[in-house]
Amino acid sequence: MLETSDMEFERRIVSPERSLTDGEDMELSIRPLTLNEYIGQEKAKENLSIFIQAAKKRQEPLDHVLLYGPPGLGKTTLSGIIAHEMGVNIRITSGPAIEKPGDLAALLTNLSENDVLFIDEIHRLSRSIEEVLYPALEDFALDIIIGKGPSARSLRIDLPKFTLVGATTRSGQLTAPLRDRFGVLLRLELYTHEQLCDIIQRSAVILGIPCEKAGAVELARRARGTPRIANRLLKRVRDFAEVMGNGRITEDIAKIALDRLEIDSLGLDSMDKRMLNMIITGYGGGPVGLETLAAAIGEEAVTLEDVCEPYLMQLGFISRTPRGRCATLGAYKHLGIEQVTVNSEQLAIEI
Ligand code: ADE
Repeated sequence: MLETSDMEFERRIVSPERSLTDGEDMELSIRPLTLNEYIGQEKAKENLSIFIQAAKKRQEPLDHVLLYGPPGLGKTTLSGIIAHEMGVNIRITSGPAIEKPGDLAALLTNLSENDVLFIDEIHRLSRSIEEVLYPALEDFALDIIIGKGPSARSLRIDLPKFTLVGATTRSGQLTAPLRDRFGVLLRLELYTHEQLCDIIQRSAVILGIPCEKAGAVELARRARGTPRIANRLLKRVRDFAEVMGNGRITEDIAKIALDRLEIDSLGLDSMDKRMLNMIITGYGGGPVGLETLAAAIGEEAVTLEDVCEPYLMQLGFISRTPRGRCATLGAYKHLGIEQVTVNSEQLAIEI
């Protein structure tokens, strides 16, 4: 059975997490295959391009790469691009899917020379699996223990050279020994409205959806800096355009559809607003600890931290202090609440 917060999560159209309703086929068809097609993340792309060219010149595998940043920004897409640009195969798995050391050993021994192994949510690998990974990353070897007790022996198996691409939303949760084994660390940032607008227009062309520039701009404004959300909104707004209009996504249709989907002018939905409202009206604008806040609005702290916070921070609506989260003046203004101080106490008045 789904927990309350899971149900909320599934229902959120602005959740940056991958959802069952995203449709694998659609995701695959609009996924860029080359660095040239990939929009945004200029810093990461420029560096990656150099590392890929150098590795190809030396006919070596690319050094291990760690991609980190909020969900939905294209970490899986970028790993596919790395494999494509290197001209090798990619195997895709995730931290929680590798349960036993044998699972990892099976993956590693099935790789071909220079292949990419992509491990999503790499911070969720268990310690015993990490131990198997270390010699694989450093020496391209697997150390297998045969037998038990005094007669136990260690056997080393050589592996093909490969590139591990690890992805995580929480680089702080990676153990230091694992983090140290990545030669390339790339931080993905939330996208600008212009970049999201380009992504939406590119996806619309591939999917054959007529979309005016002004319609794409409106979608981009409300997509929380996240391509996965932008592409999901494009699909939903297309439905409104087909039923309420002539199938073309115009600015007006986009506005009507997004208002109906209860996504406000900046892309905030009810969960973001409950979080901000609780900081303001429940805790005098903050500071309030994340766990306290999560309990107060009935959400998981990790959801607030990974999903709501990066975007609210980018908007400048909350600040993180050592004593907890605070709402900024911008948040008060956006919610239409006046900040009033009486005897040094913060009061909030709805305006
Ligand atoms: N689709 C999803 N992310 C993308 C990106 N960064 N560039 C182009 N298309 C995308």
